[in-house]
This record gives sequence, C-alpha cells and structure tokens, in this order.
Amino acid sequence: MVKKRPTLIKKTEKATGNGGFLCDDESKKTCFNLIIWYNCKEFLSKVSARRYFLESEGSSMIYFDNSATTQAAPTVLDTYTKVSQQVWGNPSSLHNFGESAYQLLEQSRQQIADLLNVKAREIFFTSGGTEGDNWVLKGTAMEKRTFGKHLITTAVEHPAIHNSMEQLKELGFDVTYLPVDQEGRISIDDLKAAIRPDTILVSVMAVNNEIGTIQPLQAVADVLKDYPKIHFHIDAVQGIGKGIQKLIMNDRVDFVTFSGHKFHATRGVGFIYARTGRKLAPLMAGGGQENNWRSGTENLPAIAGMAKALRLLLTDEDQKVARERAVKQRIYDHIKDFAKVDIFSRPTDGFAPHILCFTINGVRGETIVHAFEDQGIYISTTSACSSKKHMASSTLMAMHTPEAVATSAVRISLDENNTLAEADEFNQIFDKLYQRFSKINADA
Ligand SMILES: Cc1ncc(COP(=O)(O)O)c(C=O)c1O
Repeated sequence: MVKKRPTLIKKTEKATGNGGFLCDDESKKTCFNLIIWYNCKEFLSKVSARRYFLESEGSSMIYFDNSATTQAAPTVLDTYTKVSQQVWGNPSSLHNFGESAYQLLEQSRQQIADLLNVKAREIFFTSGGTEGDNWVLKGTAMEKRTFGKHLITTAVEHPAIHNSMEQLKELGFDVTYLPVDQEGRISIDDLKAAIRPDTILVSVMAVNNEIGTIQPLQAVADVLKDYPKIHFHIDAVQGIGKGIQKLIMNDRVDFVTFSGHKFHATRGVGFIYARTGRKLAPLMAGGGQENNWRSGTENLPAIAGMAKALRLLLTDEDQKVARERAVKQRIYDHIKDFAKVDIFSRPTDGFAPHILCFTINGVRGETIVHAFEDQGIYISTTSACSSKKHMASSTLMAMHTPEAVATSAVRISLDENNTLAEADEFNQIFDKLYQRFSKINADA
C-alpha cells in the first residue's frame, strides 16, 4: 500500500530569544555592507521564531530525533540565503567583494570564539563532526608519531572516533579502549592505568550519543595535567548547549569537536577548537585556508548561519536545559513501571537532559520506531548511523547488555522546542503500542 505523504505546513511561535548575529556594539559601528547591516538590525529587534510541523492525518508531527539531526532554524536559513545572495565572494580574493566575505568569515569566527570564551584564532571551520573527529585523531597521529604511537579512547565513542582509531591501528598505532560501567561511564583509575610514556592522545566524548551519559571530563582533565604533552580531545557534538560548557571547555582540553546540524545550523558545517600552542597535521592539503590548517574554500553561508545558531543555542541555555529535562522526566516517569521496559538513561545529573534510551523487551527497535512513526512521532534506534544496518547498540554492548536487548533499544532525543504536551501525547501512544506489542507477543 502506498503511504499517504505528509504535507508541510507552517505555524508561527512567539519569539524565545533574539536572532543576534555578528552584532556586538563594536561590530555595529563597523558595519559596512548590506548583509552585516541587515543582521545588526535583526539583532536589535526581537524576531519571531518559526516552527515547521509536518501535518500527518490531522495531527502535528512530534520530532524526538534531535540527536540524529535538528531542523535548521528559520533565522539561520535567512542568513544562509542572504549570504549566498549578497556576500558570495571568495574570502581569499583580493578585491573588495572578497574582502567583505573575509570580514564576515572572521566575524563569525570571533562570535563563536566569544561564545566559548576562547580566542578567534583557536577556531577552525570544518564540514562537521565526522571531519573534526577524524582530523584531531589522524592529525595528532601524523604530528606526534615520532614521539609515540599510543592513543586512548573509550569503548562507547561515535564511529567517527572508533573507526578512525581502527584505521590508525592498521597503520601501526596502538589503541586502548577504556571500558565503561553499567551507566556507560569510564573509570578514572582505568584511564590512569592506561597512560604510557608513548601515549600521544586521549579522546573522550562529552555526551554519549546513544544513551546520553556524561563522561567525567574534569577528572580526565585533572589527570592529564600531569601529562602536559598528551593531546586531550573531547567530542562535544552531543554536549554543546546541554548545560555542561564548563566541563567541555575545561582548563586542560586541547581540541574539541562541534557539529552545526546538531544545533539548528545547516548540514555540512562544523568547527574544532584547538588550544594555542597545540599542533595538528592538516588532513586537507591545498590552498592553505584556515591558517594553513584546513584547506578548501570556506562554506561561508553555512559558517555565518552556524555562528547565529550557536548564539541562539546558548541564549537562555539554563531554561532550555530545564525544559528538556522536564520533558525527559515526564516520559521517564511514565514508562519506567512497565514490566517489559528497561531504561538505560537516567533523568539525573550524570546524563544529558535530551537523550532517553529504552527497550521494550521482545520487540525489535525498528518495529518500535515504525509503530511510533505511524502515529506521527519520530524517534530512532540508538543512533542514526547504526539504524539502517540493524546493528546492536555499541554503547549497550560495551555496557555488557545482552545482545537481544541492545538490538531492540530505541532513543528519544529532544531539543528546546519539545513540550510537556508532546511528552503526554507520546505517553498516551506508548500505552496503546505497549498493549498491542504485549498482545502480539502473548499470541505468538
Ligand atoms: C558524538 C558524535 N560525534 C560525531 C558525530 C558526527 O557528526 P556529523 O554528523 O556532523 O558528521 C555524531 C553524529 O551523530 C555524534 O553524535
């Protein structure tokens, strides 16, 4: 049977913050072209944020798959379009038009640096999280291979880290994967025991993308203060905007990976933070952009949009995190008492506010995902990367969860726009589906 395609409709919501962009008092004074002036005006007025819903058979879509990707914010898309139309010169060109593009590029870099309390020259633009992770690992390996060939990471990293490490192993590097406990967290004693004289890098994710565990980043930082030559990398792709910026941008970290599409920027853009004094070999050789670290003509519309998205994300961050936590708690409280439900994410502090991973024992993950989809609710199996491969969750496997359970896990991932009303609707539908699954299992 052909599925009825949902149609796109628009609804307007009241503004939740300003659309600020490149517009502190200083840059306002130096506005010199249309696009920058446009954005300054926008910053000064509160804009209304638009939210798009998929209308599916009369009811709005509920999108609970924000760890896979988020919807680009309308004001970010505005920036993308306007930069593409009006500031489309190459930032490396010598003429005025190129110079305007260069100024916008550098203002975007400065804005991101200010939001993270670092220096503009410590921000390097990339195509996203996968590139950032590959670059820090392989760039460190190439840069420091004469000093040592040992790298340390965790057993629960995203494939961008895990598979890069596996490639490095094939090239003769030695990798230690730190085990995790039943909440998916590494132990600091294991880390201390793993460090060797030839260790060149420790890479630990901020927030696990499958179950939401927050790693003990400050404790890792404290250990590594005794080993100043080791590169310390954090994959913060799931951690930015989740109330743990101090943990991520800690006093010892050397490199941090970020990805724009996880916080309402467009796809194919991201950045890394690289502490002054630390070096990475470039993976992209070419024209020498990004201070000779990462060649390739900069994706300026996406970069300018990402700067805006980051500002929006970090505006009223505490309130947004509290809202996400409340939505997660509402669902957690509802599903926790069902006999066949196992929940792997806690609603407590050691877990991110936006990720809730659970199973209904005996029901496959994709069956649960499609059953919710038929009701207009979008969730996922544990990660976007594994979902089409029908793989068991690698995080749950590392936690020694039985394979059958790890294969049936599903993930809800929230953003700041999700509401308690959506949680209630989810819970009602959960009841119906749980009964249906229980009956099918009883009849089988
Ligand atoms: C923790 C983590 N690292 C890296 C990535 C890869 O990011 P990107 O999709 O921007 O390549 C993801 C994507 O889901 C992720 O969750």
